[in-house]
Amino acid sequence: MKIAETFSDLSKHRLALSGEAALIPTMGALHEGHLALIRLAKSHAKHTIVSIFVNPTQFGPNEDFESYPRSRTKDLMQLEKVGVDIVFFPTTQEVYPNGIHEATRIYVPTIGHLYCGKSRPTFFEGVCSIVLRLFLITKPTHAVFGEKDFQQVTIIKKMITDLYLNIKIIQAPIVREDDGLAMSSRNQYLSEAERQLATEIYKALIKLQKTPQNSNIAAAIQKEVCELERNGIRVDYLSLVEEGSLRKITKPTPNSRVLFAGYIGKTRLIDNMPLTQTD
Ligand code: PAF
Repeated sequence: MKIAETFSDLSKHRLALSGEAALIPTMGALHEGHLALIRLAKSHAKHTIVSIFVNPTQFGPNEDFESYPRSRTKDLMQLEKVGVDIVFFPTTQEVYPNGIHEATRIYVPTIGHLYCGKSRPTFFEGVCSIVLRLFLITKPTHAVFGEKDFQQVTIIKKMITDLYLNIKIIQAPIVREDDGLAMSSRNQYLSEAERQLATEIYKALIKLQKTPQNSNIAAAIQKEVCELERNGIRVDYLSLVEEGSLRKITKPTPNSRVLFAGYIGKTRLIDNMPLTQTD
């Protein structure tokens, strides 16, 4: 396993790999969800490249950039064990040599300002700005993104199309804890009581998924919002959307999904679940 900290080292190691290579971009603090992305990548491509970079341009001024969990040694041990070809671990200076405010950015209209983009107005601009840099430097044939960040993977696919990038995006299913909570590096922020409360999110999504055909889904969503809020979860949004466009819809379709974001204490959690009906 090669570890690169600079773009030039990364390019050198990348050139030495022949054949298909999948990129798995991460912000570190790796957990089973990330390892599942890597395993999936390995089933699609001969080589795997994992990037670990806590990207400052996707955090807002009052968000958790400083406190975001960083665990370099543990991450490297896990990557060694699962087996990847290259780990890219750049510094902020390496990625944004002229500072984050002077760096060229990718603007994501409309879809980048819905849902998470409403509460985090520059989030997707920051995500696309780093992901495009990683694509250009690692030249992957494939890239793997988790479905937990459903809006993120949808926006990355749009960027691939809009910018004529020849990269196959692999969408990986959500990995959950035994009690249903979607795995996330931010789960570490939760106290024991908050961690317990967090399972309510999964329960709400499952209830919505089981809503009988032809019932009023808008009312069912509203009921779950009230329930979550009553339990102490501050709901940012709970919305039924059409996959692809992320257009808000009022009735399930064969391709619809319910998206959630909310806060438990100061911790922002997201999750989603397919909610489809075929009649
Ligand atoms: O999903 C994440 O961890 C990040 O948004 C990503 C894609 C690594 C970009 O920094």
